[in-house]
Amino acid sequence: MKDIHSYWAYIVLIILIYAVFNAITGFRNKRNFTDKDLRIGLFTLIVSHIQLLIGLGWYFMSPWYKALTTNGSEVMKDSTSRLLALEHPLMMIIAIALITIGWSKHKKKTEDTAKFKTFMIFYGLALIIILLRIPWTNWFN
Ligand code: HEM
Ligand code: HEM
Repeated sequence: MKDIHSYWAYIVLIILIYAVFNAITGFRNKRNFTDKDLRIGLFTLIVSHIQLLIGLGWYFMSPWYKALTTNGSEVMKDSTSRLLALEHPLMMIIAIALITIGWSKHKKKTEDTAKFKTFMIFYGLALIIILLRIPWTNWFN
C-alpha cells in the first residue's frame, strides 16, 4: 500500500503540473476550451482521487496513525513524525479538495477563458500545497 502510494505520487505530480501549465497557457493565449482540456482536468481529478483513496488506506494501517493516537505529544514534538502523521495527510486532503472544487466550478463557467482561469487558480494552489508538504526525504530514500 505504501509503495503504491509512493509510485502513484509520480503520476499525480506529472499530470497536475501538466494540467496547471495547460491552464496557464490556455488562459494567457485565450485559447478555446476543447475536449482535450476537459480530459486533462478530469484525468487530474481522477488520478488525485485515487491517490486520496490509497493515502487514506495506508494512513489508517500505518505506524504513524497508531503513534498519533497512542502517543500524540511525542509525535507532535518531532517534526519528521508530525509531517507523516499529521501535516502531510491533512494538507493533501485540502489540496485534493481544492482540485475537486476547481473541477466543479469550471463546469459552471460559460466562457472558455474563465474555465482556464478556474483550473489555473485551484489546481495551481493545490500543486503549491502538495509541493510544500510532500515528505521529500522519505520519498527518495
Ligand atoms: C476517498 C475517496 C474519494 C472521495 C472522498 C471522493 C470525493 C469526491 C467528491 C466530493 C466529488 C464531487 C465533485 C463534484 O462536485 O462534481 C467527486 C467527484 C469525482 N470523483 Fe471522487 N472521491 C473519491 C475517490 C474517487 C476514486 C477512487 C475515483 C476514480 C476511480 C474518483 C473519481 C471521481 C470522478 C470521475 C468525479 C467527478 C465526476 C464529474 O464531475 O464528472 N473518486 N469525488
Ligand atoms: C496529492 C496527493 C498526495 C501525494 C502527491 C502524496 C505523496 C506522498 C509521497 C511522495 C510520500 C513519500 C512516500 C515514501 O515514503 O516513499 C507520501 C507518504 C505518505 N502519505 Fe501521501 N500523498 C498524497 C496524499 C496523501 C493522503 C490523502 C494521505 C492520507 C490521508 C497520505 C498519507 C501518507 C502517509 C501516511 C505517508 C507516509 C508513508 C510512510 O513513510 O509510512 N498521502 N505521500
